[in-house]
Amino acid sequence: MSLESYATNVKIDGLENFFSRAFGKNRGEPEREMSEEKSFHMTPDEFRRYGHAVVDWIADYQSRVESFPVLSQVKPGEIRASLPAAPPARGEPFEAVLKDVEHLILPGVTHWQSPNFFAYFPCNASGPGILGDLLSSGLGVQGMLWSTSPACTELETHVMDWLVGMLGLPEKFLSSKTGGGVIQDTASTAALVALLAGRERATNYSSNQKGCDGRLVVYASTQTHSSVEKAAMIAGIGAENVRAIEVDEKFAMRPEALARQVEADRGAGLTPCFVCATVGTTSSNAIDPIGAVGEICRRHNLWLHVDAAMSGTAMLCPEFRHLQSGVELADSYNFNPHKWMAVNFDCSCFWVADRKALIQTLSILPEYLRNQATESGAVIDYRDWHIQLGRRFRSLKLWFVIRHYGVEGLQHHVREHVRLAQQFANWVRNDQRFELAAPVPLNLVCFRHKGGDAANQTIMDRLNRSGDLFLTHTKLNGKLTLRLCVGQTNTKARHVENAWQRIQEESGKISGRG
Ligand SMILES: Cc1ncc(COP(=O)(O)O)c(C=O)c1O
Repeated sequence: MSLESYATNVKIDGLENFFSRAFGKNRGEPEREMSEEKSFHMTPDEFRRYGHAVVDWIADYQSRVESFPVLSQVKPGEIRASLPAAPPARGEPFEAVLKDVEHLILPGVTHWQSPNFFAYFPCNASGPGILGDLLSSGLGVQGMLWSTSPACTELETHVMDWLVGMLGLPEKFLSSKTGGGVIQDTASTAALVALLAGRERATNYSSNQKGCDGRLVVYASTQTHSSVEKAAMIAGIGAENVRAIEVDEKFAMRPEALARQVEADRGAGLTPCFVCATVGTTSSNAIDPIGAVGEICRRHNLWLHVDAAMSGTAMLCPEFRHLQSGVELADSYNFNPHKWMAVNFDCSCFWVADRKALIQTLSILPEYLRNQATESGAVIDYRDWHIQLGRRFRSLKLWFVIRHYGVEGLQHHVREHVRLAQQFANWVRNDQRFELAAPVPLNLVCFRHKGGDAANQTIMDRLNRSGDLFLTHTKLNGKLTLRLCVGQTNTKARHVENAWQRIQEESGKISGRG
């Protein structure tokens, strides 16, 4: 579909009205205040007007998001071809920019915020999350040190402590105990930071000084997210020193295989240092047995990192916490509120049990960052808790979301999605053309048509091309498997019912073809 026809085909009710509402009579006219001094900046009054227009645009987008094809239908290069080759020499009216968002950019957007988005793991947004992010931009704070904006640090510490209780995590993760939490950008970065701390602890903090000796070994299951292998590459441990531990029939790590491998590596004179266990693997939502894995880590003094990227959000509900039993043995834990807890990307909550190990791993203090508060030892400087120096005021959006929904509202969000996914799994179980391909502990259903890989590929391609919904696939036991994840902020029963109906329609065509 061309961009032109896209813009006319989708329901853009009253778009012209929208622009006249937003900008009044003078739309299209650059409105610069007469002033002695030439200024190119947006004045506060202009900002107020355009800001309202953008918020109106987002609210309208939310109400019409279901009218767009979920997966963007553009071809490679189509968006760039519609943009001018050169940047504007003179500033343009804001109205023109916002119009181009509508006509040129929107067709190239895959609508992650559509309630018919069932692909990958979700990437939530919500009203309070968006507003928290906006406020963070408005304040424009860079909170690398406590002293560069005390509220940026203290709100983050406070909200991270709240979450320890909200998720039933061990008290050792609290900032008032030996640990503490910090917001990272992504689960990948969290895994890297955990791995660096594990590496340093295992080498008595010498690899930071001397580099790695090629003997460090890292353990994860065959189902662990690729970010752990990437972290090993970045950390100088090397992908060849990542042991992929076999899994059981539920795709969960086999602890006895882990123990065997660690002992073999120790016997060979290597230095095992780090294990990643997952609560909710990406491919099939498998749950590694943290307790049994944790006992092995204790025995061999290995850093245990728990990656609960999406499924950690389920721990808001006490009835799901058995899935992370043994978490008290973890050295670090991460979950992404930006996946399933209604917080806008990016927001990855990472805790350590021993903050000293983390700080000793990552702290460097150049002269220009020295200040009294740091020297007093009474404050947290989060620059020592992650890779980069600078940091945004990300806790605002987390705080807004928690205060808006309350624990009750967030629990409702999780329970409803789990209920809908379980219902979908039952429909699959009761349809003899389909089978479940993995257990369904929470909100991800892995299933397949019994007609084989080609049939499943065809069903998925047709569904995604139709724009009615978007789902993705994986391979389990060598077979192409469809994944339907219920987790978008606004997904309700009717969206999941419609998804099942569309899947049945497409599979009916397959069966019809024989
Ligand atoms: C279990 C798990 N870990 C890590 C990641 C990486 O996430 P991020 O994009 O936050 O790095 C994902 C992504 O889906 C995941 O499912």
